[in-house]
Amino acid sequence: MVVTVQQHIQQQQADITAASGTFSLLLGGITLATKIIEAKIRTAGLSDVLGAFGQTNVQGEAQQKLDVFANNALLHCLGARDMVAALVSEEDEEPVTFDRSPDKGKYIVVFDPLDGSSNIDVNVNVGTIFSILKRQPEGDLQASVLQPGYKQVAAGYVVYGPSTVLVYTTGNGVHSFTLDPTIGAFVLTAEKMQMPKHGPYYSTNEANAEEWPAGYRTYIDTLRSGTAGTYSSRYIGSLVADFHRTLLKGGVFLYPPTKKQPKGKLRLLYEANPLAFIAEQAGGMASNGTGRVLDIQPEAIHQRTPFMIGSEREMTLLAEVLAR
Ligand code: AHG
Ligand code: MN
Ligand code: MN
Ligand code: MN
Repeated sequence: MVVTVQQHIQQQQADITAASGTFSLLLGGITLATKIIEAKIRTAGLSDVLGAFGQTNVQGEAQQKLDVFANNALLHCLGARDMVAALVSEEDEEPVTFDRSPDKGKYIVVFDPLDGSSNIDVNVNVGTIFSILKRQPEGDLQASVLQPGYKQVAAGYVVYGPSTVLVYTTGNGVHSFTLDPTIGAFVLTAEKMQMPKHGPYYSTNEANAEEWPAGYRTYIDTLRSGTAGTYSSRYIGSLVADFHRTLLKGGVFLYPPTKKQPKGKLRLLYEANPLAFIAEQAGGMASNGTGRVLDIQPEAIHQRTPFMIGSEREMTLLAEVLAR
């Protein structure tokens, strides 16, 4: 008999500190939104969701129509759930807050509604990334939003590819589900996933190599040289898809600092932290080049970070090379 993500999270409930059924209701809001997004993506060419929306977001990016659609789907599905205290999105400058008492509004959901926007119009995998934090009793809501990654209560992503796959963790292993369109449910396909300790792929935008700090060039040259093993280069340009391959096959993904983006391009709260949580739960590692991503104390909701994530062997070698 199939196990859906709702059933699975119920079974996991005991492991989520002081989580009542509200947590599975919260996750239900996320999965509902991703099904709405998935349905729109599958027929993108037939409805008016390709191309630019015509506005620039707080990131300075030209918003795509699907960025806006996906953002609205998540705000709609989650805003209606009374356990949500605040929603933080790549597409919104400020958190969207709800006037709910702290005993009701227990959770903050942080998300990248549509990851890999540059790939939408060319029909290449895109994704949605989410991270769930608990509202802290002390301090204001902003303090609860700016928690370091090790405080996440859950994290996950959906990759919209040949099939639609949801991967999540609540700190008790990494589990994956495939959307079964015949029943409209995410069905369990793998439990307690482990990232291979070594993998044959490195994944980075090599066009930036001349802008990287020298240690990163040395590292990629080492992987290319064959002295550390045989590697292939794979770069999709959608973080979720590049990470999903790394989770399943092993290897390493890197977005180092560049002259244009000296603090890195990827965003800490809704790209690096959720994937770092998943990677570590699966036996992998995630670094900002000098330390563990999950230890970074955020200062701002759209803060960027250099982001390297992958298998133990490739990440250990990276740390050694960067320390030289
Ligand atoms: P988003 O579409 O959510 O803005 O994220 C895009 C990110 C990430 O998906 C990907 O890894 C990276 O941008 C690609 O950047 P480059 O095109 O600079 O390589
Ligand atoms: Mn974007
Ligand atoms: Mn993204
Ligand atoms: Mn995005």
